[in-house]
Parts: sequence; structure tokens; C-alpha cells
Amino acid sequence: MASPVSSSDSKSPKKKRVLSGVKPTGKAHLGNYLGAMKNHVTMQDECDSFIFIADLHSLTTVRDSKLLQELVIDLALDYLALGINPDKTVFFRQSDIPAHAELTWILNCVTPMNILEQAHAYKDAIAKGVKDINTGVFDYPVLMAVDILIYKPDIVPVGKDQKQHVEIARDIAGKFNRIFGEVFKLPQPYIPEEVAVVIGTDGQKMSKSYGNTIEIFAPEKELKKQVMGIVTDSIPVDEPKDPDKDNVYKLYSYFTSAEQKKVLADKYRAGGFGYGDAKKLLLETILDHFKPFREEREKLKQNLDYVKDILKNGAEKAGIVASATKAEVWEKTGLKL
Ligand code: ADP
Ligand code: TRP
Repeated sequence: MASPVSSSDSKSPKKKRVLSGVKPTGKAHLGNYLGAMKNHVTMQDECDSFIFIADLHSLTTVRDSKLLQELVIDLALDYLALGINPDKTVFFRQSDIPAHAELTWILNCVTPMNILEQAHAYKDAIAKGVKDINTGVFDYPVLMAVDILIYKPDIVPVGKDQKQHVEIARDIAGKFNRIFGEVFKLPQPYIPEEVAVVIGTDGQKMSKSYGNTIEIFAPEKELKKQVMGIVTDSIPVDEPKDPDKDNVYKLYSYFTSAEQKKVLADKYRAGGFGYGDAKKLLLETILDHFKPFREEREKLKQNLDYVKDILKNGAEKAGIVASATKAEVWEKTGLKL
């Protein structure tokens, strides 16, 4: 996929605005990192960048106040350790900006129910026969649309599972603009093909809800357990193996150059190289890759006031943009007298 960042219009040197968020609901895993967080860090160098912690979204499932606080701090630590730089990115917490909740009501009033009835998360919950689905689950895409639209970004980098949500945001923006007049910009999702769906230890999409994750900041022992638990076939050590059919090889591929990949692929095909050896190599590779981030996270953990200050400062900056959009909406809808 072409870089979403470079502008084809050479007369317009203005940086593109990029916005994304992650919901604090558990430990960050390789899918979150490769599919979303890594891109967020990279893009801050070229873009006008907004990244936030979607704590309001977590309330659809998290029912423990202390846990929610921990999850938010954990995610803030993860992002900062991975390289989100508050001088380059407006980094904030969704709930610090009341306009997210306020505008959700306004956009609810232009969103047809049938758009939300088609949303994957809601449909899945219905299909699974989940009882007591709360209204937050149903309305989740509208809050997410507000998260996006209020900052008028050009690009929204997310994993493939979030594509439908960005499309819904575009639909809602179009609808509002047609009814009340132009306020919202229609953003583009950005989903690099190679990391659109990162596989988990069982070969399915890696996800907290499937219990198949490799957690990037887990203690070494736990990380080892997760890597050693990757599902492989039962071809004996001596026999040749097909790297393209193997989960360990696929996960290794995310971290290495084409040459290193070829070296490993040759070993698979030659035989005499077992899945246990491949797992050890993958574990070392992951530990190596995340070493500086893990060290940085430990340091940040000792200074939570600093982390909270970063979020507070980020909220001040985000609040300015959000208030300006809210004022436009109030004007267009007649809520402003
Ligand atoms: P989970 O499925 O574990 O609950 P989230 O829904 O919190 O993950 O996802 C946070 C971000 O990480 C989203 O942008 C999502 O698209 C991305 N993401 C999550 N899992 C994967 C994956 N396996 N591959 C690619 N991106 C992913
Ligand atoms: N729904 C996203 C997730 O599950 C989190 C999210 C909330 C988000 N609001 C957003 C992502 C706005 C991008 C833009 O990870």
C-alpha cells in the first residue's frame, strides 16, 4: 500500500492529520502493536498526530473502577514506552474531553438504526446469543465516529477489524453534512496489508477475546510460555517443513528482513530443524525487538505523575480542537442561541 502520508499536491505542504485510539481492555499484544500502535508511533514523525486512550469505549465491558484505572495507565505506559512522543503527538484520554460524549448524542440523532444493526461487533453478540447486550455496545460505532470526526483527521490507521467502524464514521459524517451543512471531513482508513490481520498462537486472528495473544510487555517467563504455546503441525524434527504453512514462521516474518526470513525458510525445507528451535528463535527475536521498549516502560512506571501530566497536557491541546468542532455543530444544528 502506498504511503498515506505523502501529499500528491506539491503546493500543499500542510501535514496530514492522523488520528487513532486504542481501547484499554487488557494487555497489549503483537496484533495491537503491529496492526496499530507501531504505525501510530511511526506516523507521528510525518503527520499532525492525535492518539488517544478510548476509556469510554471500555465501559461497555469493564465493570471495575480500579481495573479501568489500571488499564488506562497500562496503555499510557505502553504507548509512551513504544515511542509516542508528547512533543509530536497530542496524546490524551477520551474521557478528558466531554465533547466526545456530547457529540455522540447529536450524531445518534442522524444515524439510522440499521447502520448500527449491521455493525460486526453487535451482529456477533446477537449471533452468539449474548444476553443483556448493553446500549453502549450497539452505539459503540457512533462514539467512535465522534472520536474521529471531531478532530477532522485525513487518515485513521487501524487494524482491519476496525475498517467497518471508519466506514460508518464516513457515512455518519456525510449524513450530518447533508442535513445541517458541511462540518465534518470524511477520513480514510489506513490499513497496511501485511499487518492487517496478525495471527495469534492458534493461527486465528490474535485477539484478547480469543486467548491467543503474545503480550509484548509480559514478564519474560510468561512471554516464553505464550511463544512455546504456538500451535504447529506434528511433522517430526528430521522431516522437511513448509514455512508458509507455519504459525511460528509467520510471526517471525513480522520482525525480520527478507534475507533472515530466507535463512529460516531454507532451514525448514532442509529438515533437521524442529518447531521448538523455531520457537526459541522467535522468542529471542521478540525479546530483542522489545528490549529497549521494555526498559523504557520500567522507567516510566516509576514516574506515574509524569505520565498523568502528559495525558493532562494532551487533553488541553485536544480540547481546543474538540471545542472548535463542537461550536460549529452547535451553530449548524441551532443549539447555539
Ligand atoms: P483485541 O481484539 O485484542 O481486543 P483491540 O480491539 O483492542 O484488540 O484492538 C486495538 C487495535 O489493534 C485496533 O486498531 C485493532 O484493529 C488492532 N488489532 C487488534 N488485533 C489485531 C490483529 N490481530 N491484527 C492486526 N491488528 C489488530
Ligand atoms: N474501536 C477501537 C478498538 O477497538 C478503538 C477506538 C475508539 C478507535 N475510537 C477510535 C480507533 C477512533 C480509531 C479511531 O481498538
